[in-house]
Amino acid sequence: MVADSEQAAHSQGNGKIIINVHDLWKAFGSLQVLKGLTLEVFEGETLVILGRSGVGKSVLLKQIIGIDKPDRGYVEIFGERLAAWSQSKRARAKDKIGMLFQGSALFDSMNVGENTAFYLRQHESELSEKEIKKRVDEALEMVGLEGVQEKMPSELSGGMRKRAALARAIVYRPRILLYDEPTTGLDPITAMQINDLINSTKKELNTTTIVVTHDIRSAIEVGDRLAFHDDGKIAHVALKDKFFDIDDPNIKLFLDNATINFHR
Ligand SMILES: Nc1ncnc2c1ncn2[C@@H]1O[C@H](COP(=O)(O)OP(=O)(O)O)[C@@H](O)[C@H]1O
Ligand SMILES: [Mg+2]
Repeated sequence: MVADSEQAAHSQGNGKIIINVHDLWKAFGSLQVLKGLTLEVFEGETLVILGRSGVGKSVLLKQIIGIDKPDRGYVEIFGERLAAWSQSKRARAKDKIGMLFQGSALFDSMNVGENTAFYLRQHESELSEKEIKKRVDEALEMVGLEGVQEKMPSELSGGMRKRAALARAIVYRPRILLYDEPTTGLDPITAMQINDLINSTKKELNTTTIVVTHDIRSAIEVGDRLAFHDDGKIAHVALKDKFFDIDDPNIKLFLDNATINFHR
């Protein structure tokens, strides 16, 4: 497997590491979730992280975006260590990382336009109202939601909520985009539209992308490399075509169950 992952690494774009997760440990009380997790993500690639529910995928994304501190180990973004950053640097780093949270996490009391403008107002306070409106309109257009600024989140379908959450994540033109279970809970056609949107957003913004999912179809449609998160570590990472040849009973079990879900 080492040979596979090395080969995968060398074939990715210019091979520049944008996200470097090194020997990350994280426990909640007696529950040891991350156990020395190491992962490298290359500029311009889409890396998909697969793994059973509860294995720590969302915990990992929160470490990468810097919401949560590790017990041991570190995350480097653009060559800079998260823990060593000053507050202002952290804020700037956040500007470069957009995240689509599991379940969208829109602010229910704000309409779509206000939701989309939220982080822009927080992080780019020098922008005028006119500029904010322009950026919000642009972001909503990119996700195919033009003209729904005034709608409240409760008035939107599941797919539209995902789109609005994506608009909110891309409005400050991040260089890294993280998606947590972007297609979970959506019908197959809407899920396909979200996969297309992940691909078109990557092209348009030129982002480095991580997608956490247990949707195999989504993994195939958006991923360049696939990683398997198991027992607190990234157990395997390989180019998409090689991933399905990996000889690991836990991957086979995961794929078998995913197939059952898919046909149900
Ligand atoms: N803030 C927290 N406090 C306590 N336990 C947590 C916290 N965040 C996550 N966990 C636990 O860590 C484990 C991994 O969670 P999570 O990363 O959400 O899994 P998943 O792979 O499904 O995204 C779960 O058992 C979850 O209950
Ligand atoms: Mg999760």
